[in-house]
Amino acid sequence: MVCLGNICRSPLAEGIMRKNIEEYNLDAMVDSAGTAHFHIGQSPDPRSVESGARHNIDISGLRGRQFGVADFDNFDLIYVMDKSNYRNVLELARGEDDKAKVELLLNVSNPDQFLEVPDPYYGGEQGFENVYQMINEACAKVAKNIKNG
Ligand code: 4NP
Repeated sequence: MVCLGNICRSPLAEGIMRKNIEEYNLDAMVDSAGTAHFHIGQSPDPRSVESGARHNIDISGLRGRQFGVADFDNFDLIYVMDKSNYRNVLELARGEDDKAKVELLLNVSNPDQFLEVPDPYYGGEQGFENVYQMINEACAKVAKNIKNG
């Protein structure tokens, strides 16, 4: 799960996906990262932590890290929150196999629509709840897809 800062959207996506992996009993692991280095080592934004907590998801222990080339080796599926993240991740791809792993997260829930999870950083609380709902819907589909092979 990849966004820009790894403090708002993608930590929430990691927490939601972790819950889905448990609930669907999947043999899978999830992690999140940001394409930027600004927030390496930092806790998620308090508004994201709150938004997760409202839905029984604790992301307070997560820490920011930057997406790197090794992630193409360590993960089969790389979901990005917006088109800017998509471009940033593709810039690091070493070839077609790497590129094929990258997809907009909301294309899972809304196929071929190329919708983005909006950056809530400069918005209010409602922005975070909105982001939670979008990510939650998409992650449930991701889990179902993995379950169904
Ligand atoms: P995120 O949100 O990409 O969802 O973690 C942002 C967090 C920080 C910044 C931008 C977006 N920033 O510019 O510091």
